[in-house]
Amino acid sequence: MDNFIVAVDGPAGSGKSTISKIVAKEYDLTYLDTGAMYRMVALCSLENNVDLKDRGAVSEMLDGIKLDIQGEKFILNGKDVSHDIRTPRVTAIVSDVAAIKEVRVKLVDLQREISKGKKVILDGRDIGTVVFPNAHLKVFLVASAEERANRRLKEYKEKGIDISFQEVLESIQNRDHIDSTREESPLKKAEDALEVDTSSKTIEEVCNKISALIEARL
Ligand code: CDP
Ligand code: CDP
Repeated sequence: MDNFIVAVDGPAGSGKSTISKIVAKEYDLTYLDTGAMYRMVALCSLENNVDLKDRGAVSEMLDGIKLDIQGEKFILNGKDVSHDIRTPRVTAIVSDVAAIKEVRVKLVDLQREISKGKKVILDGRDIGTVVFPNAHLKVFLVASAEERANRRLKEYKEKGIDISFQEVLESIQNRDHIDSTREESPLKKAEDALEVDTSSKTIEEVCNKISALIEARL
């Protein structure tokens, strides 16, 4: 099989990237974190003080942007921004950036280009609905907002970022709302996706479930 696509969608903190990375290693798939691509564009807009309501300015930024992904390294216009894209200030605006049509058109093109002729697992919000509606396997991960906020809080604490549970919870709920109500490619489960609630499951349990599905299709 030349091309094999696994689509993993779901809200923030549902476990998409953790699970996708493990499964990618197990089956030798290329892993593409599409959220990181939206985060790179969001960071670029912050660094250049781009007014997100000014479509001309957004298009100009998109024309000049260079996104390079080398495994788990994210290079924005020649600079490694792998850490900078995960900070709360980027998280705070990324959903507004991702709601802009021009941004989505550019990144979806790039996601399809990167995936061409490969065995790929992509995680995001619209992979199974828009980017690859004919994916070989579609998974939709969910978990309660409280559980997802706790997971994120733990990660922030480990990185030494000072933030409260309430702030993380509100940020997650705000992003859930923007992502699922936007006009362009809203976050939603594809009809033929398998939904897995990861709230009370271990990472291993979720991986085992997805691995079995991949094996059945490979
Ligand atoms: O890692 P986390 O779940 O916090 O978010 P992410 O996957 O890094 O995605 C950051 C943001 O990018 C999301 O909240 C969405 O607004 C946007 N996104 C999107 O619109 N479409 C995708 N395929 C991936 C991310
Ligand atoms: O990519 P997404 O935002 O959906 O989630 P993530 O970045 O993979 O974050 C999920 C966090 O919850 C990670 O710190 C995982 O270790 C943890 N976790 C999980 O992913 N799945 C579980 N079943 C339990 C915990």
